[in-house]
Amino acid sequence: MTPAQVERVQDSYSFIFAVGTPFILSFYDKLFDIDPALKPLFRSELSAQSEKLLMALTYVVKNLHDADRLLPVAEVIAKRHLTYGVKREDYVKVGQALIQALDETLDMRFTPETHQAWLAAYTLLAGIMCNAAYGSRDEDNLPPP
Ligand code: HEM
Repeated sequence: MTPAQVERVQDSYSFIFAVGTPFILSFYDKLFDIDPALKPLFRSELSAQSEKLLMALTYVVKNLHDADRLLPVAEVIAKRHLTYGVKREDYVKVGQALIQALDETLDMRFTPETHQAWLAAYTLLAGIMCNAAYGSRDEDNLPPP
């Protein structure tokens, strides 16, 4: 991510944070439209979950420029996601739902540059998390021994 992209994500996130729970609910709506089969994975009460998600997003967005802070936390969260039954391909669906929810919530603020910046941020984070949880793509592509 470029420093300008980090700044765009951080600036637009302050609006998302102020919106709070309705943003998270919009995200879940989009996600369950994309794949209703993911619904049973989410067992906790939505209000508790949206609180945790907002806190995690806040931490990630704040530390986008600081891999030393981002990596260990992302890796721990990714490994917990294995126990929820999350699969690698689900990260694509969550990325799509996130972009759609951002588009809806940020509306005119969701400029093409801001869109690109969030895509870059999610791709970075999802890459770190998938590598931690499922191994790197390169390893996956190795032929069987
Ligand atoms: C950038 C990617 C993601 C981030 C930062 C993230 C963050 C979080 C956080 C902070 C929690 C709260 C509990 C915990 O810390 O373990 C959580 C819970 C959860 N996440 Fe994610 N997540 C991501 C991707 C995904 C994906 C791809 C799925 C697949 C559907 C998913 C499904 C879940 C589920 C099922 C829970 C547990 C809900 C419950 O308590 O019932 N997450 N996530």
